[in-house]
Amino acid sequence: MKPIKLGSSFSLVAPVLARDAYAQCRGAEVITRDVAIVGGGATGTYAAINLKDQGKSIIVVEKQGALGGHASTYHDPTTGTPINYGVQLYHDDQVTRSFFDLLNITLGGGTFPQGKTTQYIDFRDGSPVLNYSVPPASEDYFQALHKYPYLETGIELPEPVPEELLLTWDEYLEEFNLTDDAIATYSRPAITGDPTKVLALYVFNNMNTDMLEEQIEAKIVINANGDIAEPYTKALAQLGSDVLLNSVVTGGRRGRKPADGVKLCVSTPEGNKRIVAKQLVFSAPFVPENLESFSLDERETNVISKFEGGCYYTGVVTNLGLPTNYSYANRGQKTEYHIASVPGVVMFNPTNVDGTYYYWYTSFSDLTKEQVEAETRSTLKLLQKTVAGADVNAEPRFVAYKSHTPLHPTTSAEAIRNGVYRDLYALQGYRNTWYTGSIFSTGSSALWNLTSQLLPRIIAASEQ
Ligand SMILES: *[C@@H]1O[C@H](CO)[C@@H](O)[C@H](O)[C@H]1NC(C)=O
Ligand SMILES: *[C@@H]1O[C@H](CO)[C@@H](O)[C@H](O)[C@H]1NC(C)=O
Ligand SMILES: *[C@@H]1O[C@H](CO)[C@@H](O)[C@H](O)[C@H]1NC(C)=O
Ligand SMILES: *[C@@H]1O[C@H](CO)[C@@H](O)[C@H](O)[C@H]1NC(C)=O
Ligand SMILES: *[C@@H]1O[C@H](CO)[C@@H](O)[C@H](O)[C@H]1NC(C)=O
Repeated sequence: MKPIKLGSSFSLVAPVLARDAYAQCRGAEVITRDVAIVGGGATGTYAAINLKDQGKSIIVVEKQGALGGHASTYHDPTTGTPINYGVQLYHDDQVTRSFFDLLNITLGGGTFPQGKTTQYIDFRDGSPVLNYSVPPASEDYFQALHKYPYLETGIELPEPVPEELLLTWDEYLEEFNLTDDAIATYSRPAITGDPTKVLALYVFNNMNTDMLEEQIEAKIVINANGDIAEPYTKALAQLGSDVLLNSVVTGGRRGRKPADGVKLCVSTPEGNKRIVAKQLVFSAPFVPENLESFSLDERETNVISKFEGGCYYTGVVTNLGLPTNYSYANRGQKTEYHIASVPGVVMFNPTNVDGTYYYWYTSFSDLTKEQVEAETRSTLKLLQKTVAGADVNAEPRFVAYKSHTPLHPTTSAEAIRNGVYRDLYALQGYRNTWYTGSIFSTGSSALWNLTSQLLPRIIAASEQ
């Protein structure tokens, strides 16, 4: 895998090239649909199932060999037990329940899977971080969060953008006297980059009411069979040939008027196919490299070129050589508030299969599977030397892996101050194209909610 170049060094493919790429599809089989959906993760799959349920014809183009994006499940070969190692739970709300009803999925309750006890350790040197625990968010945090309801299921900012939301998180904690919440807010799962330097608005968007309800009130649903990727395997079975897996868009033409529709050239394992659709839903990560073949115009380029995703990886490992009844979480021995010493493994959590763990890994630049697993192995070899009761001779075995890069695309304070989110929302429907996905929110349920609010507009546009 070659490293992703982002930011100012990124140059978008000139529209004329993309048009030529589309022309190369001449003669290819034509797939005609009401709506083309690019990206079969949480939002693309939700859009596909619900649009179909409402009588619209659809086609999904998915780069990977399965639907589901950040939801991945490994099945223990001996027992068949599902081990989820990306998404861990869903929020218990009406949008989620309706979606699972459409998929004929039975839900149960659940908790975030982790050991009864967590050992907090500095993964740089293996030393235990003593007298440390993660408190729940305080009432003060709730009060701060409730000032910004527009960050709960999207980033629909007022104008001018409140300057306080553009503070880095360490600045916000100081300025709003929230330092008692430092540990709670720095212990969010699945965040990338330096947690002290993330902008306040991204903290509130991520650690939103949904997440707090999950953590504090256990307002959680999990598939009754324990397989978090079940919505996606069931959706794939329902959608059948309306999903093109292992496929990417190589060229696109999008008209300005609804009647002009959208034409895409798609490279599939069975050769090129042409998609002719009335509307396009773009639900893959909103980063330049995923949109370069869509012949973006200047207005679109001005928004899209400003976003960049984070680097995040997950996997399943067994034979760690560590006592199997604990979670092992990375924290800094000497860092302020014991913020985790990353890049590196965030935590190892035990699963329903004794001795098998899932792990999460964050990095500041894109890594290969070999790099992530080599670094994770080094961390485990170090922990084997310092954790009581560990076996220094155990050789960890890596049995599943997934790259989640680019995760949750974000942009700079300056771009936000200059209205990049206003311009992003204004792109909805422009050139028959609609955007949903992790650019707007982080939890699956919030993403389904915001997609459900977009669907009536997409349907109306497809009927013009
Ligand atoms: C969906 O989001 C809206 C805000 O956009 C919120 O008012 C509503 O409660 C959410 N619905 C669910 C089921 O969470
Ligand atoms: C839903 O699931 C039940 C039990 O698994 C099965 O009997 C039924 O046929 C399913 N219905 C549909 C519409 O798939
Ligand atoms: C941890 O807490 C105990 C009891 O509160 C105290 O005796 C001990 O000195 C503390 N250790 C550290 C490293 O702060
Ligand atoms: C900051 O909050 C603490 C409690 O969290 C309170 O005791 C203190 O008076 C507050 N300080 C200011 C300046 O508001
Ligand atoms: C975990 O297992 C070890 C070794 O069997 C035991 O000493 C320890 O008390 C256990 N810890 C918990 C939290 O169950």
